[in-house]
Amino acid sequence: MSKNRITIVAVLVASLAAATGAYAAKVVEEIQIEGMVSPASPKALTAALEEKLAVKVLGYEFYGTENGWPILKVEFDSGAVSKDQIEKVIDSTKDPSGTSFRVHRGQVKIHLPLLEEETKADGVFAAESPDIGQLTNPIPASADSHTRGQELYVKFCSKCHGMNGNGAGPSAHGFSTDPRQLWSWYQADKSADPYLFWFITNGRSDMPPWGVILSENQRWDLVNYIKTLAPPTN
Ligand code: HEC
Repeated sequence: MSKNRITIVAVLVASLAAATGAYAAKVVEEIQIEGMVSPASPKALTAALEEKLAVKVLGYEFYGTENGWPILKVEFDSGAVSKDQIEKVIDSTKDPSGTSFRVHRGQVKIHLPLLEEETKADGVFAAESPDIGQLTNPIPASADSHTRGQELYVKFCSKCHGMNGNGAGPSAHGFSTDPRQLWSWYQADKSADPYLFWFITNGRSDMPPWGVILSENQRWDLVNYIKTLAPPTN
């Protein structure tokens, strides 16, 4: 081996060691996030995390996550930052609309007394609720709308609410709040639309919010479709 070659090999080995050394300390964590209520939410959370910690937000997964909650993928050097620190920043960051982000840590225990923070959040929702009645469904309940709604329903909702709306989808097993039987809305009149739209947009307890994932028209198509889910006749 010539001296030149030896040098090249040595440099290669050294840079490989440096690269793998740096790589070994890098970890990617996936964290489920509550409070993603608008298209501005992901940007706000990314900005807060990258500003406060030496982390890189790789992105968000909104579609097809196991239990419906959006997932944040974040990369960091485990020597410099801990998952605990990341979760603390998430839990202390607010969405531009005023609701708080929170790490989704599993079931919501609805029978426990509300925490102070939850009581405050409830106040925000209560303040919003008068607006519910002012929404009007712009999508006629046509056969086309039902077809679009059904496609979305099967893809995003049936895992919890069941294919036929019976509230017993496979992902809902063990939930503290049962996904509602959507049959109760069968053939409901127009006055139900704003409530259904608001609920689908914002979610509640184990029901994820869909405002950031589905367009307004898609959510109205779902409202139209839900009202066609008939209870069994026998
Ligand atoms: C991860 C499970 C889950 C998924 C996925 C899910 N839901 Fe829900 N949904 C729930 C739970 C749990 C509730 C009851 C929440 C509560 O009352 O606190 C609920 C409640 C609702 C309600 C309120 C019904 C009522 O009678 O008040 C509507 C409407 C609804 N869901 C529609 C949808 C639609 C449409 C989708 C798909 C885009 C969907 N849900 C996806 C779990 C889910």
